[in-house]
Amino acid sequence: MPSPARPAAETTETGTVVLDDWLSFVRTLTPGSIDLLYADPPFNTGKTQRGRSRTNAGGSAPSYEDTFSTTADWVGWLRDRFVATLPAMKPTGAVLLHVDWRTSHHARLLLDELLGPDRFVNHLIWSYGLGGSSPRRFARKHDDILFYALDPDRYYFDPPMVPATSNRMKGELKKATDVLDIPAINNMASERSGYPTQKPLALLDVLVRACCPENGTVVDPCCGSGTTLVAATAAKRLGFGCDRNPDAVAIANGRLGAVRHPRAGG
Ligand SMILES: C[S@@+](CC[C@H](N)C(=O)[O-])C[C@H]1O[C@@H](n2cnc3c(N)ncnc32)[C@H](O)[C@@H]1O
Repeated sequence: MPSPARPAAETTETGTVVLDDWLSFVRTLTPGSIDLLYADPPFNTGKTQRGRSRTNAGGSAPSYEDTFSTTADWVGWLRDRFVATLPAMKPTGAVLLHVDWRTSHHARLLLDELLGPDRFVNHLIWSYGLGGSSPRRFARKHDDILFYALDPDRYYFDPPMVPATSNRMKGELKKATDVLDIPAINNMASERSGYPTQKPLALLDVLVRACCPENGTVVDPCCGSGTTLVAATAAKRLGFGCDRNPDAVAIANGRLGAVRHPRAGG
C-alpha cells in the first residue's frame, strides 16, 4: 500500500500525529490516498478555548485561540485548507466537517461550492445533552456534521446500528438516523484528556466505522487531543493528523500510545 503521509519521527504502524498547520500538512499527503477527511476546526466562537489542568498539582491547562476577524475570514481560512486537501482524497472518499450553529450555514454553502451540491449526503446532528439552558431561547444542544461524498455513486457507507425504540421492534437493532444521540464527555469520564472541546470517542467511533472501510485511511487536520486518530486506530483504520498546538500533539501522542499498547498505556 502506498504511504499516505510523509515519514515522520512519530510514524508508527497505526498512525501519525504531527505539529503542523492543516495547510502545509495536507500538501505532504500522497495524492488520492484519503478515504475519510474528518475536520473539527475552530468554530469561530471569538474566545480562547481553555481546557483543564492535566494533573491534580495543576499543570498548565491546554488552550487554543478560536477568533477570526469576521465570518468571511473563517470561510476563507477553511476554503484555502479544503482546496489544498481535495487532491489527497480518494475518488471514493468522504468528507465530514464538524461545525455548529455559528457557521453551519456558511460551511454548507462552501462545500456545495467546492464539491458540488450533488455530493451532499447528510447534515448530521450530534445531540449531546450536557450544558446549561436559557430563558431567552431553546437551549443549544447539538453540533452539525456535514457529510459529503466525492462520488455520490461509489462511496463507502456501513450504516451504524442502534437499539430500536418502537414497541414493535423492542430488543432489536435498527439503522441509525441523521440524529446521533451521544453524550458529551462528562467531568468524571476516564477518556477526558483536559484538552478543550475534546469530542467523545463514541461519536468518532460511529463516524469512522460508518464512513471509512477497514484498513482505510482517516485524516484529521485539526486533531486536537487526537480523538479521531484513537477511534481510527481502535477500529483498524489508519489515522493521520496534525494540529498547530504543541499541547494537542503531546496529548494526542499520549492517547495513541495507550491505544497501541493498551497494557503499557493503562
Ligand atoms: C475543535 S478543536 C479539535 C478537537 C478534537 N476534535 C478533539 O477531539 O480533541 C480544533 C483544533 O484545531 C486546531 N487548529 C486551529 N487552527 C489550526 C490550523 N491552522 N492547523 C491545524 N490545527 C489548527 C486547534 O489547535 C484545536 O486543537
